[in-house]
Amino acid sequence: MTKTTPKVLVTGAMGQIGSELTLALRERYGHDNVLATDVRTIEGPLAETGPCAKLDVTDPVMLKGILERYGINTVYHLAAILSATGEKNPGLCWRVNMDGTLNVLNMAVEMKLGTVMIPSSIAVFGPETPRVNTPQETVLKPRTMYGVTKVCGELLGDYYVRRFGADVRGLRYPGIISSETPPGGGTTDFAVDIFYKAVQNGEYTCFVKEDTSLPMMYMPDCIKATIELAEADFSKLSHHGDFNVGALSFTAGELAAEIRKHIPGFRVSYEPDFRQAIADSWPSSIDDRAAREEWGWQPAWDLPSMTADMLERLSARFGKRL
Ligand code: NAD
Ligand code: SER
Repeated sequence: MTKTTPKVLVTGAMGQIGSELTLALRERYGHDNVLATDVRTIEGPLAETGPCAKLDVTDPVMLKGILERYGINTVYHLAAILSATGEKNPGLCWRVNMDGTLNVLNMAVEMKLGTVMIPSSIAVFGPETPRVNTPQETVLKPRTMYGVTKVCGELLGDYYVRRFGADVRGLRYPGIISSETPPGGGTTDFAVDIFYKAVQNGEYTCFVKEDTSLPMMYMPDCIKATIELAEADFSKLSHHGDFNVGALSFTAGELAAEIRKHIPGFRVSYEPDFRQAIADSWPSSIDDRAAREEWGWQPAWDLPSMTADMLERLSARFGKRL
């Protein structure tokens, strides 16, 4: 833990990552020190365990008011529109992802905030990027509006570090798999949906092809990576807002086969839609040596352990016996 207890703002806290990361941050820094915000009303465990407020990150006046009122010095800026929703509404994706990020960065400078975490994504890559073991430094020519905003977000973050001395950090998350909050409209959502359908119905229609391979990460590793980077010694970081982080890589078919070890009758059919082209433009595996060398990144979960844990949690939630 850092010497000064962080007073943390989480934007987009009701989302897939925020709903679990916020609780982990409250456990670590004290429940009253972590403010959960979202453009949606904060409900459930987030509302029950600490302070919360409504915040539209595209509104700089609202953002500044909240930073002042709660004495915030650390921001986890998770509010975003993800890849599939972004392709349906590119204008909204640009406004939320770019205006929101710029507002947060400007406030970081104006209010002399400490660490500002701004997630990036494997969506920064495109078809010209090497797909296997994708390097840290490589071609960034995404084909989605979401990817465009994530590349701009990385560049802006690095610019604010160099130009204004801001402390901006970020990870290129792979697809995040979790059991508590469903994902919010991304291309990697199939790798979460498949677990819910396996437990609830015993069958699933997958929106990418069986041989589609993408990098993924289980939520406990996502939380670990995020907090470890946030607490890393800034002076030891050569990169800032764009760390590659790897954990798991598997095809949709390999994931289905792993689930079948627990649910032998599980049936999967494949009906690719517009998200197939997005998935095909992203890497299948990630070279994360920079993260390992600069702040000691080491994932803990593999495909068998993640699958067993997901199925155990969801079967308990839905009252199903495996
Ligand atoms: P999510 O879609 O589940 O949640 C995003 C949240 O942002 C939602 O609760 C939504 O209500 C909120 N939001 C939308 N517009 C807003 C606005 N104008 N003001 C305030 N809040 C607003 O997303 P997530 O999966 O939790 O992603 C969090 C971050 O991690 C994003 O930056 C995303 O790009 C990144 N990321 C996620 C994944 C993943 O697989 N989940 C992978 C790579 C990167
Ligand atoms: N999971 C995200 C998406 O599919 C990747 O950033 O959009």
